[in-house]
Amino acid sequence: MNRKIIVFDTTLRDGEQVPGAKLNLHQKIEIAQQLKRLNVDIIEAGFPASSQGDFQAVQEIARSVGDSVSITALARAVKNDIDAVYESIKLAQNPLIHIVLGTSNIHVEKKFNRSKEAVMQMGIDAVKYAKTLLPDVQYSTEDASRSDFEYLWKTIEGVVKAGATMINVPDTVGYAVPEEFGDLIRRINERLKNLNDRVILSVHCHNDLGLAAANTLSAIKNGAEKIECTINGLGERAGNASLEEVVMGLKVRENYYNCHTDIRTNELLRTSRLVSHMTGLDVQVNKAITGENAFAHSSGIHQDGLLKDKQVYEIMSPEDVGADSMELILTARSGRHAFKNAVEKMGFDTGDGADFEQLFEKFLTLADAKKEVYDHDVFYLVTNHRTLDD
Ligand code: KIV
Ligand code: ZN
Repeated sequence: MNRKIIVFDTTLRDGEQVPGAKLNLHQKIEIAQQLKRLNVDIIEAGFPASSQGDFQAVQEIARSVGDSVSITALARAVKNDIDAVYESIKLAQNPLIHIVLGTSNIHVEKKFNRSKEAVMQMGIDAVKYAKTLLPDVQYSTEDASRSDFEYLWKTIEGVVKAGATMINVPDTVGYAVPEEFGDLIRRINERLKNLNDRVILSVHCHNDLGLAAANTLSAIKNGAEKIECTINGLGERAGNASLEEVVMGLKVRENYYNCHTDIRTNELLRTSRLVSHMTGLDVQVNKAITGENAFAHSSGIHQDGLLKDKQVYEIMSPEDVGADSMELILTARSGRHAFKNAVEKMGFDTGDGADFEQLFEKFLTLADAKKEVYDHDVFYLVTNHRTLDD
């Protein structure tokens, strides 16, 4: 069976925690509208207890896009936070309360300075309280990947019995590696399905070792049904799992994962550019899927292969993510085939063999000097060559 993976976008909560990425109300609403167009399943709109501005933004987002996409916001396991979430999201069609509380020894001892039992009880009480407000409650076991497994499981069991409908397993500090994280999710999934098979198992990965997308995919392979990610991988420190990378990983390798999402992938580039523009944070040029060079080919061997058949060096088509068709960058490494293609695309004929060789030599001289040769350079080269010959 081809499983649907639920996509939860946290660009407006975890993503907005990035230094320098402060968004105003108008910008947040515009991003939320684009996330709806992209067809994410759940938008985490903010952390309403943190400030009046955040509260208002979550409320406006729930009002403006909450008719067709589920809206959530983050609460610590305390009544005031949960009330703030409820009040800000209650106008959405499918509101979801998201509660977070640490499960690792480091969090329990250093952050809360309480016994493990007392911390677990705090989580259970928070879920019980949230359930008096709404039917859908997600519980995040913060720092799960560095937690003692039996304590982590006892917490999950406790909050599920208290009514949590989604269990989110975060790799909060990006410490996990794919095999290990996949194994953790498989073990939790086996027990969870025996306890209550309607509870949704989710993952939330950070990118401190550059493994957030790989860990997320490994979790899916091992039973995760929901993924949390951000546009452009924005997020604390090295960021979160990048939505575009995980979604395209699932799409391109659908036969391997046997899973799909409902994301409209041809909106990915537009979403990435909007978020980059609004946050003022550039996307690195070689970033997978949405970087400027993601579909640019510059070596002669590759260009020659692509001109014969795109599949030779392309695993997805640029149009699938909303980009223009593949881009061949002419450089001194481009071969005759790519240069000829560029000349003919401009409507010039490439003349006889000797004439073309002369033109190609001029192109190589220019490419050595300029590094990259653009359409207007090719135009100038051909017209100048022909004029001088006439
Ligand atoms: O990284 C984390 O643990 C979080 C939780 C709130 C899910 O962002
Ligand atoms: Zn996070």
